[in-house]
Amino acid sequence: MSDPRQIILDCDPGHDDAVAMMLALANPAIELLGITTVGGNQTLDKITRNAQSVLVMCGREDVPVHAGSARPLVRRVEIAPDIHGESGLDGVELPEPTRPPQDTHAVRFIIDTLMAAEPGTVTLVATGPLTNVALAARLEPRIVERVREVVVMGGGYHEGNWTPVAEFNIWVDPEAAHIVFDEEWPLTMVGLDLTHQALATAKVEAQVRDIDSPLGEFFIGLMDFFRKAYQEHQGFPDPPVHDACTIAYLIDPTIVQTRKVPLTVELRGEHTVGMTVADFRSPAAADCRHQVATKLDHAGFWDLVVEAIRVLSHEES
Ligand code: BDR
Ligand code: CA
Repeated sequence: MSDPRQIILDCDPGHDDAVAMMLALANPAIELLGITTVGGNQTLDKITRNAQSVLVMCGREDVPVHAGSARPLVRRVEIAPDIHGESGLDGVELPEPTRPPQDTHAVRFIIDTLMAAEPGTVTLVATGPLTNVALAARLEPRIVERVREVVVMGGGYHEGNWTPVAEFNIWVDPEAAHIVFDEEWPLTMVGLDLTHQALATAKVEAQVRDIDSPLGEFFIGLMDFFRKAYQEHQGFPDPPVHDACTIAYLIDPTIVQTRKVPLTVELRGEHTVGMTVADFRSPAAADCRHQVATKLDHAGFWDLVVEAIRVLSHEES
């Protein structure tokens, strides 16, 4: 097997961020160098603590957690309690972390990690608003040519969820997203077109219930809350576990099909702020550095997630 893919996960847990963490922690194709947090689904304090609680549940408090930006670059804080609850991870008991987050700011950790690593080895995965990633690129521009790839859960080329055309992570900090999409690094957008295919069905939950472990129960509690929220506020039958699709793409790119297409983020439209605009008019140029995720292998994706929960459950017992 080739060396594991080294990643930093910049996130705002969040029910689906938590599943992304489980996948990244359990799958041998991934080496999780650290978790950085950004205000998004809930306030920075809450989601940083959530990240720590998920690590406790997974028996992996050895992974460092670095708190980052509490608010967007320009706009006011916007959170998503309707979707993720007052804690940001409603539906479960959250265990107390046994240690505090690291002293180093998330942006500093991202920069230091990328500058210390061999160029082209570390991948940045962002599953929250892009504030930390944008600040890191501005503070140390040399990271742009050192990163292997930036993988973003955000946006969409056909649909929005926070406005008709804007997805939540991009909408919260569109200026940061504009910076990140505009940099000269390879960027994969795992947007709503893809993540709305990643529904946690009753069949998936039954498979996890069979594992019969505290982590399995934790996952089911999260998904039950997430399902009700998505039924009530977004008209979905089952919840889409957006953020975990980024990790699945890195583990096995055959599970997430992609297509090269130039992208940009709209900042000024009367109805379109936060829209990720994809130019599909002609085949992308050979040096196009953007791609979008298009089609998910649903069964393959959930096999990875269920296996991750099984692996972590055995490690915890
Ligand atoms: C994205 O927004 C958040 O609510 C989720 O965690 C995900 O990252 C989906 O629009
Ligand atoms: Ca998220």
